[in-house]
This record gives sequence, structure tokens and C-alpha cells, in this order.
Amino acid sequence: MFLPELLNLSEDISTFLPPREIINLTIMNFRLIPAISATIALCAPLSAQKFDNLAQTPPMGWNSWNIFHVNIDEQKIMAMADIIVATGMKDAGYEYLVVDDGWEAMSRDEEGNLVPDPAKFPRGMKIVADYVHSKGLKFGIHNCAGNKTCNGMPGGRGHEYQDARLYASWGVDYLKYDWCEHGTADARETYKTMRDALHAAGRPCVFSLCEWGENKPWLWARDTGHLWRTTGDIRACRTCTGEWDMGWEIILEKQADLAPYAGPGRWNDPDMLEVGNGLPENEARAHFSLWCMLAAPLMAGNDLRTMTPQTLKILTNREAIAIDQDVLGRQGTRFANQPGHQTWIKELANGRWAICYYNSTTETGQFVATWENMYFMDRSKTYAIRDIWAAKDLGTTATAASVEFDIPPADVVLLVLTPTK
Ligand code: GAL
Repeated sequence: MFLPELLNLSEDISTFLPPREIINLTIMNFRLIPAISATIALCAPLSAQKFDNLAQTPPMGWNSWNIFHVNIDEQKIMAMADIIVATGMKDAGYEYLVVDDGWEAMSRDEEGNLVPDPAKFPRGMKIVADYVHSKGLKFGIHNCAGNKTCNGMPGGRGHEYQDARLYASWGVDYLKYDWCEHGTADARETYKTMRDALHAAGRPCVFSLCEWGENKPWLWARDTGHLWRTTGDIRACRTCTGEWDMGWEIILEKQADLAPYAGPGRWNDPDMLEVGNGLPENEARAHFSLWCMLAAPLMAGNDLRTMTPQTLKILTNREAIAIDQDVLGRQGTRFANQPGHQTWIKELANGRWAICYYNSTTETGQFVATWENMYFMDRSKTYAIRDIWAAKDLGTTATAASVEFDIPPADVVLLVLTPTK
């Protein structure tokens, strides 16, 4: 067999080599061929895929956008890294520190490289990434698939491979890729190009698509990114709306049918957390609980320097986080939706279930958990009932046929049911 055929080369090297050389090559390297073929077989598809085995549970971390917008700088970012560690957030699972829009200078350098804003990041981004890494955290950055970011800074379009190499050289572990100024670009192709560029740059990197759900990324992005935004931006309120942004309950509503598309390495992203950004405590607890039920990425978005003990308590509730991070990777679904009284359920590993009762009305509501109506549970089993926010065991499903909860407005009761023998 001829060498190009044996190696399955797309380009016939016989056009570059005289026949005699090819014969010699074929004979001399015959024993190398299996190894070369294997390498080529491995390399070809590898350059056109996302990094596997990342984000096997929803990514957790902190992102600068919700609270600081473009008002970021080296000191602030480094301070956040310190606090994530000092407050126990890191131990609770917050891992990625992501610098959002606003880190760049307004133009690329003469070689077309992105340049950090010299006033905000005078020592460049690598030093920030190194600092974040020295704290045992991972470093993330933001850019945009279009010509410019939403704040007018250089976007990645046409520079994907160059930018990916730069990010890799800085030690970037997570790229959030936005969708402003995309013109007539095709979302699937554009995001695939950046996926391939990141892969070719060789540093494992979580790829977070931020095209606001415009092109229904849940239908096509599972092989492109590790998470994809499903809506426009979140706002620190429950039901308010703006031109581009909306309260968390409105976002919640838009997640109800998306559960089948999520799983390890591919998450629906209902946007970052607004816990600690002015929501009343009950709303913050409800928002956080429901994001956990959705297996949402948990990216805190508050100023950690001024965080109250209540905010920290919500953000670091280990049992709530365990629901989000459960290894099965199931996104929760809405089991019942009576006016203002929502019941969300999420299957967990080892036959357990999480149930979240959410009172979206303006009055205290009575919710009754009647076990025989919970047809998703295994009827041959008895379950231990754990109330997560009360941090209390409530007996078992055999103790009483139902349990009642009076839930204040805009608040939740979050339960985990664990089968007993
Ligand atoms: C939006 C994005 C926000 C934030 C902002 C930065 O498009 O949804 O999360 O990244 O851009 O300009």
C-alpha cells in the first residue's frame, strides 16, 4: 500500500516527493507507520473538539461583572482571590475566578495581540493569573465572539487562534465568550472556531458560551462548550425587567423545559448569582436554592469585601451546594406549578431526591408534601427527610403521610430525601 493511503493523509505527499524517495520512506519507516497513523488519528479529531472531562459538575466560582461591571483592576481581583480562600468559599467549591468585560485596552497592539488596560492591570494578566493560581484557584477571562465586547473593547473575531494562544500563555483556565457586535456571524460556526482555537492552544480551558440563548445553544452546543447562557442578563431583583436584563424569577421560568439538555460537561447557564447584591435574605436564599436545583453554574457575583455573614452563609451552604454539584448531573424540573406555588424536583445519585418548594406569591403560603403523590419516588422505600435551610432532620416518609410547611413570600423550603434500608 502507498504511504499516503496508509497514513490516511488528506494531501498526497507523492506530489512533493519523487517515487523513489517514497518507496524508501515506505520501506524504512514501515515499522513506524502504526505509531504515526495512531498519532494522526488521535490528532485530527482532537483539534476539533472541546476539552473533555472539564466541568463534570457545574462550574463554581466568582465573576466580576454583576457587581463591578468594567470597574475592575488588579488589586480588586487579587483581593477577591484572597477572600475566596479566607472565607471558606474555596473549600465550599468556588474554584474559578473570572475577570469579565473591562480588562482590555481599547485596541490591540501592532501585532494584533490583545492588551490589558495599562491603568487597571499595569503588570499584565499573567501576574494576576499566577496570583490566582497561587491561591489554589483557577483563572478565567472574558471576551467576545464579535468584533467588540459590549463595552467597545476588542473582540475576538478573526483573531481566535492568536487570542487562544495568548490566553494559554497567561494560564487561562476558563473563557467566557460573549456575543456583542457579532453582525451576521453564524453562532454555531463562530463558537466552534473558538473551541478549536482553544483546543489547538493546548491548555485545558472551560469554554462558556454567552450568546444569551439567542440561537438555542442547548440544541447544538454540547460538543462546543461546557456551558451556555440561556437568557439575557440577570438583574438583582426577582421580577423586574429591563431592555437586556431581568430578575431571577423570570430567568427561572425560562429554564423549565431545558433539563434534558444538561449533564456532566454541558450545562444550561441561567446566568450568575445575585446573592449579596441587595436581594432580601429570603429572595437570595430562594434564588440560590433554585439555581442549585437547576444544576446551574454557581458563579458568585457580589463584592466579597463587604459581604454580610448572611450572604456568606447562603453562598457556602454545603448541603445546598451538594444538590447543585451532585455527580448524576441532572437538572431539576418543575413537578408542580399551582399559581404561586412551585415544586421543583431533582434526581440525585444513590436514589436520593431534592425537592424545592417555592412560594412566588406575596403572602405566606401553605405547602403540603404528600409522599404518595410523589410518584418519582420508589414506593418500596422509606426516605429520611432533611430540611436543608433549617439544617434539621424531619423524620422519615413512614413517620407521617405528609408534612406541611408555611413558606413566607418569595422563600423556599429545600428538602433532600434519602432512601433508608
Ligand atoms: C453581556 C453578558 C454579561 C457580561 C457583559 C459584559 O453580554 O451577558 O454577563 O459579560 O456582556 O459586557
